[in-house]
Amino acid sequence: MASRRDFVKFMGRTGLLAATMAPFISVTGNSAMDILLNAEEGQIPFKPLAASYADELLLAEGMNYDIVLSWGDKLNDKDTFGFNNDYIAMFPIQGNKHDCVMWVNHEYTSERFVSNFDKKAGIAKTLEQVNTEMLSVGGSLVRVKYDKKKGKWNYVPNDPLNRRLTGLTDIPFAWPEPIAGFTKAVGTNSNCAGGITPWGTLLTCEENYDDCWGEMGQDGKMTDKKTVWGWEAYYSCSPWHYGWVVEVEPFTGKAKKLISLGRIAHEAATTKALPDGRCVVYTGDDHNDECLYKFISDKPNSLETGTLYVANMEKGEWIALDYSKQEVLQKNFKNQTEVLIHTRKAAELVGGTKLDRPEDIEIDPLTGNVFVALTNNTPKGNYHGSILKIVEPTRDSLTFKHEVFLAGGKEMGFACPDNMEFDKKGNLWFTSDMSGKAITGDENYKGFGNNSLFYVPFSGPDAGKVMRVVSGPVDSELTGPKFSPDYKTLFLCVQHPGEYSTNEKLSSNWPLGGDNIPKPSVVAISGPSLDKLMK
Ligand code: FEO
Ligand code: CA
Ligand code: CA
Ligand code: CA
Repeated sequence: MASRRDFVKFMGRTGLLAATMAPFISVTGNSAMDILLNAEEGQIPFKPLAASYADELLLAEGMNYDIVLSWGDKLNDKDTFGFNNDYIAMFPIQGNKHDCVMWVNHEYTSERFVSNFDKKAGIAKTLEQVNTEMLSVGGSLVRVKYDKKKGKWNYVPNDPLNRRLTGLTDIPFAWPEPIAGFTKAVGTNSNCAGGITPWGTLLTCEENYDDCWGEMGQDGKMTDKKTVWGWEAYYSCSPWHYGWVVEVEPFTGKAKKLISLGRIAHEAATTKALPDGRCVVYTGDDHNDECLYKFISDKPNSLETGTLYVANMEKGEWIALDYSKQEVLQKNFKNQTEVLIHTRKAAELVGGTKLDRPEDIEIDPLTGNVFVALTNNTPKGNYHGSILKIVEPTRDSLTFKHEVFLAGGKEMGFACPDNMEFDKKGNLWFTSDMSGKAITGDENYKGFGNNSLFYVPFSGPDAGKVMRVVSGPVDSELTGPKFSPDYKTLFLCVQHPGEYSTNEKLSSNWPLGGDNIPKPSVVAISGPSLDKLMK
C-alpha cells in the first residue's frame, strides 16, 4: 500500500519528463513542455467537500452545474437519450470548441424505470418491454452548443447529427472471418468507458455483456445462461458477439466491432499514437482476477490488425497473444480468431497477471506514464482498491516498471477508484464506484459517503492530496468525467441514482426532486473555482 509520503516522493516528474516528453503530445495538441510551463503552483480555490449521504449533487464552493441531457430527452422524432450514462467524448464540429458532437455511453438498463417490468408480479416480460430495454443501452451522439450569453451548454434537439446506437443496431465485425457464424452483431450493450483514436473516431467498450447474453465456451455450449435481463426470450444472440471494443465515427454513426482488441469485459480503451502513426491501446478487463492488455496496431489510422499483449506484472513484460508465435496457444486453440474470442483463457495460458479489477486507464500528459484504476477485489479482501502507475521506456516497449500510485482506504478518504481524467495542467480527477448496497450496508465502506469525484493536484503545495469535489445523489455513481475542449466546463454523468428503490419507496428523486423518479443525467460543471484551477 502506498503511503502519502511514497506518493509525494515520486511526484517530481520533471526529471522523467526531460527523457520522455518527445513522444507525448497532450490531447489539447500542446506539447508536454507547454503544459508544464503553464502549470502554476497555486492554492486550491475551494475547501474539499466532506463525505455526504445526501440525495443531492453537491459541489465544492465556486462550482455549479446545469443539466445538459437526461434519460428520455428527445434527440429527434425517433430517438431518445438512453439510460445509465457513462463515458463521454467530445468532437468539435469543424474545429469549433463551442459546437460539438457529444458521445455518451449508456451502460445498462433498468426494469423499474425503463420498461416498468416487475419481476415480483410473476408475469413474463413482453417483447415490447425487451425492445424498450434494448433501445435504452448503447450510446448517443448529440450535438451540444455553448450559449455564450447564458454561459450554458445546451443540446440541440432534432439536429441531423443526433443519432443512437442501441442494443438493436446492426454492427459488423471488422475481421476477415465470421464470429459464431455471423459477420455482424445485433447491437452493442454494456457500454462502460471508452477512448478516442488519434484519427478522431471514438471507442466504446462492451463490459458486462454476460448480463445480457450469458457466456459460451470454446465448444459452442453455453457455460452461463444466467442473464440479468431475459432478452433471450425473444432474441437469439451469441455471447461471442459482445465483449468487444466498438469503433464509431462520431459524425456519421458508422460503427464496427474490433475483434483485434480481444473479447473481455472491456472497461476502457486508451490510445496513443506512435511516431510512425501506428497506435497503442491500453485496455483492462474489469473482473476480479483479470488482466491488463496493450495492443499495438500494424498500421496507422486503423486498429483492425495488430498484436494484443497481456501484462505479466512479475516480469514487467507485455506477452503477445499471438497464435503464430505461442506454442501454448497452438495447443489450445484452432486459430487466432479463437484466441481473440477467448482472450481471458489465452491470457491465463501465456502468464497474464491476475489484477484487482482493472477499470479506467489514463495517460499522464506530462510524463506518458499509464495510470490504471484497480477498483477492488472483495473476495481477496481488497475493499478499497488503488491506482496503479506503469512506466514504459518507450510507448511501443514490451517491458515496463510499475508501482502503486494511490491506495484507497479510510486514511486517504476514498474507495474503489474507477473513471479518471487528466486536466490540461496534468492534474488527475477520478471518480469512485462503491457498490450502491455497500455504501450504507457494509462496514468496510462506513464513512466514505456517496460515490464522488476527487481531484488530485500533481504540483504545488497540495500535491498528492485527494480532495472530494463532487458528491453524488443516493445510489448513484459519477461516471465519464470529460473536460470541454476549452477546459472551462467539466462534463460529468450521474449514473443509476435511486438504483435500490423499492415498489414502496424511491431512494432518490434526483435531479427533479419532489416525488419524481430519478433520472440518469449529464451535467456541465463550471464556475470560478474550476476557472482558477485551469488558469
Ligand atoms: Fe462499468 Fe467497470 O464499470
Ligand atoms: Ca466504470
Ligand atoms: Ca477516462
Ligand atoms: Ca465500475
